[in-house]
Amino acid sequence: MIFITGGAGFIGSHAAVELLEAGHEIVVADTLINSQSEAIRRIKSITGKDFPFYQVNLLDYKKLNEIFTLHPISAVMHFAGLKSAAESEADPLAYYRNNLAGTLYLCEIMKRHGVKKLIFSSSAMVYDVSDDTPLIEESPLAASNPYGRSKSMTEEVLKDLLVSDPEWRIAVLRYFNPIGAHESGLLGEEPKGKPNNLMPFITQVAVGRRKVVQVFGDDYDTHDGTGVRDYIHVTDLVKGHVKALDYLETHEGLETFNLGTGKGYSVLDLIRTFSLATGIDVPYQIAPRRSGDAACYWADPSKAQSVLDWKVERDLMQMCRDSWNWQAKNPFGYKESMHPAASFL
Ligand code: WQD
Repeated sequence: MIFITGGAGFIGSHAAVELLEAGHEIVVADTLINSQSEAIRRIKSITGKDFPFYQVNLLDYKKLNEIFTLHPISAVMHFAGLKSAAESEADPLAYYRNNLAGTLYLCEIMKRHGVKKLIFSSSAMVYDVSDDTPLIEESPLAASNPYGRSKSMTEEVLKDLLVSDPEWRIAVLRYFNPIGAHESGLLGEEPKGKPNNLMPFITQVAVGRRKVVQVFGDDYDTHDGTGVRDYIHVTDLVKGHVKALDYLETHEGLETFNLGTGKGYSVLDLIRTFSLATGIDVPYQIAPRRSGDAACYWADPSKAQSVLDWKVERDLMQMCRDSWNWQAKNPFGYKESMHPAASFL
């Protein structure tokens, strides 16, 4: 049975679908501070499968212990965490508490119950993203904000954990920029409040919830002056997680993988591709740079391709089509509603 933390969130909910469809049993936990219980209902409706869901914070040691006592958990996919670079600069304690301390508590419980297989959601933001070369797993690390540092500190903790007990099997997956949505349009990215990320902002403008996309800077040293990132379809991303889980079945130790496409696209590339894919012109205006933003970074995904036998299958047009399909079907995202699915311990 796989324990999914943050399983009501954008990536966690897509992972829950993939795991269920790959034949795994799951148990899901989420605080719902940045997600909706409606996503849990939709995972069940997409897969036709049931599973326990708990509204719980990873810092609640007692409740977490009860979940591990109640269920025969064999591995953990750990998505729970905060993920905005800008927000982390304004509230670093929230990021270290949720992302670093939350993972410490989780690993304590796992250790107590003899569960030693962990897939950890890390981030491309652990890298030194100042030079324009594709990032490999051995590229220098130099996180430039508390969010990225919370992830790189956690990676160091996991390395120490393995040294203390070689029985641990850990996959550290460094995400680039996940966008897109499940093909059904039932799951998607629905940040609370004003989106930090580019794609949900584009789709909220396209659906009429917002007026215009602010392009944060057009004077970067890139092909059109706007920021370049490695966008990856969330379904490709979570399929990489299932591959990593299979990998841990036969490999001890800690292994790190970049989950990106190996292609970089600018802000204007994304806006233009979105319009091509959907027929919707998205108004934008050039705005000042956002503090903490890097000009350009993208992945060299060859290690995940060869070691995990994983390859992305969806291109930028598909990512835009699926993001729009989600937003068009859910103009105001998930409807907030409390479902019997949420068991309260
Ligand atoms: C992308 C580009 C902005 C919003 C994300 C995640 C982070 C991590 C890395 C996983 C940049 C520009 C954005 C807008 C804009 N992923 N932009 N107008 O900052 O690369 O970080 O990927 O761990 O968790 O947040 O993503 O979508 O915010 O920005 O012009 O309204 O779009 O300057 O060039 P970012 P983003």
